[in-house]
Amino acid sequence: MNLRLPGPIPVPDEVAKASSSPMINHRGPEFADLSARTAEKLKQIYLTGNDLLTLTASGTGAMEAAVVNFMPPQSHALVITIGVFGNRFRDLVHAYGGVATVLEFEFGTAADLDVIEQALKRNNEIRTVFVTHNETSTGVTNPIVPELAKLAHDHEALLVVDAISSLSSVEFRTDEWDVDVVCSGSQKGWMTAPGLSFVSVNERAWQRHADNPQPRFYFDLLRHKNSLADGQTPWTPAISVWFSLDTALNMMLEEGVEAIWARHINAGQRVRNGVKALGLELFAAEGVESNTVTSIKVPDSLDGLEMLKIARERYNTVFAGGQASLKGQILRFGHLGYMPDEDLDAALQALANTLSDLDFKP
Ligand SMILES: Cc1ncc(COP(=O)(O)O)c(C=O)c1O
Repeated sequence: MNLRLPGPIPVPDEVAKASSSPMINHRGPEFADLSARTAEKLKQIYLTGNDLLTLTASGTGAMEAAVVNFMPPQSHALVITIGVFGNRFRDLVHAYGGVATVLEFEFGTAADLDVIEQALKRNNEIRTVFVTHNETSTGVTNPIVPELAKLAHDHEALLVVDAISSLSSVEFRTDEWDVDVVCSGSQKGWMTAPGLSFVSVNERAWQRHADNPQPRFYFDLLRHKNSLADGQTPWTPAISVWFSLDTALNMMLEEGVEAIWARHINAGQRVRNGVKALGLELFAAEGVESNTVTSIKVPDSLDGLEMLKIARERYNTVFAGGQASLKGQILRFGHLGYMPDEDLDAALQALANTLSDLDFKP
C-alpha cells in the first residue's frame, strides 16, 4: 500500500526493525542513555538549546501540555487559526479556562500579520499566542513565525507553535526565531510510528510555568524535565517507538537538516506540478502551499469520497480526505519524511488512473 497521508507515514525498514528490539527497563541505564541521546538529536533538528521533552502521547498531547503548562486559567490568549488544527488550539484554550480572542483566516490561506498586530494592540491583556505552523487540514504553511515571535514578545506574550506536521521537514529555527514553545509529533516528518510527541521549552516559558496556577499532572512538563535529568520519564514511556525514533534520528542527522528541507521543497514542487498536469486545482493559496501535504480541490463533477475509495481499492494508494467542513471537498496528498520519488510518482499515477476511471475531463 502506498500510504500518502500527511501522517502516519511509511517508515524505513531499519526504523520498523528497531521497534521490535527486546524490551528494556525504563528505570535502568539503557533507557537513560536512549532518552539522553534522542533529546540531544531532537535538539539538533529543532535547532535549539532549549529543553526538549518527549511525551508518550500523540501530537494533541503536546498541544494540551502547552496549554496546561503555559496558559494560566482566566488569562487572555490569542488563537490564530487557518484550519482544523488551529481550531483545536481554540478548543483547548476554552477547555482550560482561557479567555480566547480567535482570529480565523479563510481555509486555504495563511494568517495575516497586520491583522494579528491589530488584535494584539486592541487587547493588551493577551499573554499567550497560539499558532499552527503547517496547517495539515488545508495544506498551508504559515510563513510568519519569526515575525510573530517578535510581535508576541513586544506585547509580553509567549508564543506557542504547533509545528507537528512541519518541524524536521520544513525550515524551522526554534532559537534563531526565538519561539518559546514548539510542539511536534513522531508520526510526521520524523519517519517514526505514532505514539510520541515533542515539546521544546525556553526560559521565558519556564518562568510562566512557575507563575501558572493551572492544575496539571500527566503533562506537567517540569516533572518531565526533572525525570529526563534522572534518565527517566515520569510515567512508563512507549519504549518501542522510542527505539525507532533513535534510528530515524540517526538517519535524519546523517542526511542533514537543511538537505531534508531541500528534499521537501522538491517533493512539494513535484507533487504540485503533477497534480496541476492532471487538470486539477490546488486548494492552498499560491505562495503558501505546504511542502509536506498538498491539498487538491475535488472537481465539481466528482465525488471526493469515491475518489479516495477507487485510489485505495484499485490502485493501492491511500490519500487523506478533507476534515470537518472540507470533507468531500478536497483530497490531501502527504509527502513528508520518508518518500522516495518513485512513491510520489506512483501516487500521481494512481490519481491519474482514478480520474480516468471516473471519466474526468479537465
Ligand atoms: C498540524 C497538526 N496539529 C495537530 C495534530 C494532531 O496530532 P495527533 O493526531 O498526533 O494528536 C496534527 C495531526 O494530524 C497536525 O497535523
